[in-house]
Amino acid sequence: MQVVITTDQRAAGEYAADIVQRRAEEGALRVIGVATGSSPLPVYEALERRALPAVRAARAFALDEYVGLPPGHPESYRSVIAREVTDRLGLDPARVEVPDGAVEGLRTAGARYEELIAAAGGVDVQILGIGTTGHIGFNEPTSSLASRTRVKTLTEQTRRDNARFFDSPDDVPRHCVTQGLGTILDAREIVLVAIGSRKAAAVAAAVEGPVTAMCPASVLQMHPHVTVVVDDAAAVDLRLRAYYDEVFAHRPDWQV
Ligand code: F6R
Repeated sequence: MQVVITTDQRAAGEYAADIVQRRAEEGALRVIGVATGSSPLPVYEALERRALPAVRAARAFALDEYVGLPPGHPESYRSVIAREVTDRLGLDPARVEVPDGAVEGLRTAGARYEELIAAAGGVDVQILGIGTTGHIGFNEPTSSLASRTRVKTLTEQTRRDNARFFDSPDDVPRHCVTQGLGTILDAREIVLVAIGSRKAAAVAAAVEGPVTAMCPASVLQMHPHVTVVVDDAAAVDLRLRAYYDEVFAHRPDWQV
């Protein structure tokens, strides 16, 4: 894992956008994996400012969707992705996929999504946030490290964390369809963005703790090409911080 510590969230967004831009310019960004939530917003804002044709041409797959929200609900991830990703990056809406959270189709939603990703040739660069529970996607603690896209139950902690997006905490859905940890690990490259002190413990557990289903993001230690981009506040619990800064200061030119 490469750990990059930036002064603030704008710099974190710019750094992560650099990686996406580099891959796009190399012709290696046919498919981008996108996360919702507040952490990746600086990345999408940076990419919007750059207006890159090679990014605009990409296909996109979201990580997850709530179960049972009415179509068009402003906080459904389909709506959030349309607003924050498709519009900002100038993607073709017909080439942006979000898991289907409709109750009727739930039994097959996971398998159908896996097939779509496979048919697109897999994800080239996956953008991730991290939850305070250590989740990536909505893979909560005790998720199988080999899991595929499926229905999951959100922890009370995650429902509380996401209550800010809804009128009342009770409105936050209890279930979601999320790419599994095994699905996420299939991406060729992964960029995880974490902003703010509330993420510090989860970031330290993911990067420096044991690989354990109790911190699902720790499974990223098993992936060969991960960059963890954090702002100062999210880095406070990292024990090897000085080392990461050292590596960053002396990184070779080819290594964005
Ligand atoms: C969203 C997702 C989640 C979020 C995480 C952090 O698609 O997959 O893992 O990335 O809950 O959310 P924020 O950034 O809002 O704290």
